[in-house]
Amino acid sequence: MGASCRRRQRLQDSTLPTPSLQERRVHQEELEIQQEQLLAAPPAPPDLGDALGALSRAYAGTGFGDDTADWEGVLSVDGINGFSNSALYGEINEQDFAELIFDLGLRPPAIIYDLGSGTGKLVNLAALIGFSATGIELEPGRHQRACTAARTLLRQVGDSLGGQPPRFLHTSFLEFDFSDADFVWANSIVFGPEMMEAVAKVARQMRPGSFVVTHKPLPGIGFELYREVDLRASWRPEGSVPFQVDLSSALV
Ligand SMILES: C[S@@+](CC[C@H](N)C(=O)[O-])C[C@H]1O[C@@H](n2cnc3c(N)ncnc32)[C@H](O)[C@@H]1O
Repeated sequence: MGASCRRRQRLQDSTLPTPSLQERRVHQEELEIQQEQLLAAPPAPPDLGDALGALSRAYAGTGFGDDTADWEGVLSVDGINGFSNSALYGEINEQDFAELIFDLGLRPPAIIYDLGSGTGKLVNLAALIGFSATGIELEPGRHQRACTAARTLLRQVGDSLGGQPPRFLHTSFLEFDFSDADFVWANSIVFGPEMMEAVAKVARQMRPGSFVVTHKPLPGIGFELYREVDLRASWRPEGSVPFQVDLSSALV
């Protein structure tokens, strides 16, 4: 640095206000918070390509939105729910579902439930990418399809499965305690008001900060709207369907 540059530098330095001890402390604290946030940021989501490929092979022979229910099964679900057409079938695009979970910052082995898991694609995909995933389905044909696909997947991926095998329960979610969930999915388009009450009652016991995603809003207190999302669905090939992401806000 030449003499004139050094002089200019000294002049500039002397015109800069010296930060006070208080300001330096605040700055240091800000740096520490930034560092903590960086460390706490969840790792990047994995590439879903392999998992989606395995899923599509496991369901070969059934396409997007195919149903394996029979009429009797559908009627029995309606009967147990006490609500007509509550077993009508449709599926959410599995890639949109997985991307949503990662987008919310959830990472394996977070606990995920699908209330009314149908043929199990969402749960099977979630398990493939390492989540602890449970599907609850009352219609026997759909439940069986989910279990068969899970067995096929487990054979395909063998020991390379990231976490727990998928779990499928043939029961009603109206009677089920899913309150240990980090994320609950309820494709509730055809669910009746009493079904939504039953879901809300258990969801209210979930840890504050856990997520419930549903098409129909959860009734009552204990939830805070976090975000609205549009996901592709089998029954709307040209568009998407809105869902709301709620945070369980308090133990009430
Ligand atoms: C619209 S499908 C959703 C499939 C899948 N979860 C998805 O989002 O792509 C809803 C499923 O909920 C099931 N269902 C309805 N009432 C139920 C209940 N009380 N307990 C368990 N499953 C139920 C139906 O049989 C149907 O398969």
